[in-house]
Amino acid sequence: MTRLIVVSNRVTAPTGAGGESVGGLAMALAAALREYSGLWFGWSGRTTPEFTGQLTVQRAEGVTLATVDLEEADLQEYYNGYANKTLWPLFHYRQDLTAYDRSFGEGYGRVNRRFAETLAPLIEADDLVWIHDYHLIPLARELRALGVKNRIGFFLHIPWPAHQLMVTLPGHKDLVQALFDYDLIGFQTQEHVQAFEEYVLSEAGGTRLEDGGMRAYGRTARIGAFPIGVDAEDFAQLTRSEAARRTFDVMKAHTAFRKLIVGVDRLDYSKGLEERFAGFERFMADNPDLRREVLMLQIAPLSRDQVEAYQEIRARLDALSGRINGEYADIDWTPVRYVNKTYRRDQLAGLYRAAQVGLVTPKRDGMNLVAKEFVAAQDPEDPGVLILSRFAGAADQLRQALIVNPNSPEDIAEALKRALSMDRDERIARWKVLYDNIVTEDVTAWRDAFVAALSGARETPTPED
Ligand code: UDP
Ligand code: G6P
Repeated sequence: MTRLIVVSNRVTAPTGAGGESVGGLAMALAAALREYSGLWFGWSGRTTPEFTGQLTVQRAEGVTLATVDLEEADLQEYYNGYANKTLWPLFHYRQDLTAYDRSFGEGYGRVNRRFAETLAPLIEADDLVWIHDYHLIPLARELRALGVKNRIGFFLHIPWPAHQLMVTLPGHKDLVQALFDYDLIGFQTQEHVQAFEEYVLSEAGGTRLEDGGMRAYGRTARIGAFPIGVDAEDFAQLTRSEAARRTFDVMKAHTAFRKLIVGVDRLDYSKGLEERFAGFERFMADNPDLRREVLMLQIAPLSRDQVEAYQEIRARLDALSGRINGEYADIDWTPVRYVNKTYRRDQLAGLYRAAQVGLVTPKRDGMNLVAKEFVAAQDPEDPGVLILSRFAGAADQLRQALIVNPNSPEDIAEALKRALSMDRDERIARWKVLYDNIVTEDVTAWRDAFVAALSGARETPTPED
């Protein structure tokens, strides 16, 4: 069997039900690799005073994890810098937060070279190499420079921005050119594919090929949309776990059987949390008769907290949740529960199940797995309602959700009212279609579609194949 080598900045041991990692990428890769005797390579999450390139290898649930420490300057320039102060905000349409610094670009190049040098000796002739996300765009180029001839695919978990936004990035040409060292470039949605194609056609003088590929910079790559999924049936099963039931009971007791609106997001400015709180506040202001019947729980574990924009959104949300509670809370009721802790998957399954509304309103999101997990965890006989931003990749597939504009507190307030008063027949009818979708397009289907496309990505085999 062909070995699959998966590479991502963040690597987390696939610990089954109890996994404590946060972020869609780690969740999906842990699930995707579980049935594959693969290797997962990336950053250990630790730093050392100087880079040594020493590998730590461990086995977890049939997957070999090979990780490497980075040095402090790498963390600042590559991870906090180019990845999370330049690419992340730009690709999420936050040009106002996008910072450029020469040292960021240098750190980005350096870490990609270091990853390539550490990884190349582990790659065997028949391996398929699958590289993930914006931290590692130039990795194929670095591997090719070291003589790696294997098929290499790239999947971007976050949006690819519109052409006019992309060209604001200093060095954008070099970044896009580096993508053409891959055999296959995958995006979450057709919108991202189109934005990429438009860039290549107009900025790189590229051409579209008949088989869905593109030619530019003297190279050919296949391009496609591969919407990522969740392990839907396993997640649904998780609601029966001990921890899920306990969490469910605790929530029911603590909400005193009020209706629960739940949000679960890394604390990130792309998630639309301010507008979401404002939307809930608007709902309460507009519906004085209903407001004491509901409460909102927002789970928001801290993320990338060395980056100023994340510190600022945290401070704003602390203030906003405090202000809303100050205005509306009573001795026996606090409308907003805002929690910065990380919860395990099995606990989240119980929380989602206890909720009547899942409120998922990112201002931009590559996919958003929480939306799919919420659907997976519902009681088929009495499901909750998903409210979903039109700017999440998931909105392409989850059309029976109540789709909202995340920039509009009024829109969110109206959707909340509609969701909270929706009759059971309509909830069941909508949920069934959503659930079928997430089961059919689950994480295994995503992995298999990408791996099949990568396996077939080269028409003319190279002598090494
Ligand atoms: N998550 C978690 N514990 C938490 C909060 C989130 O395990 O306390 C998980 C969540 O279940 C989901 C992932 O983190 O699988 C978030 O993925 P999503 O695609 O929604 O957003 P991202 O964080 O990748 O932007
Ligand atoms: C998103 C990104 C991932 C990232 C995750 C968590 O899902 O697409 O690449 O791993 O967020 O962020 P972090 O910076 O903690 O890895």
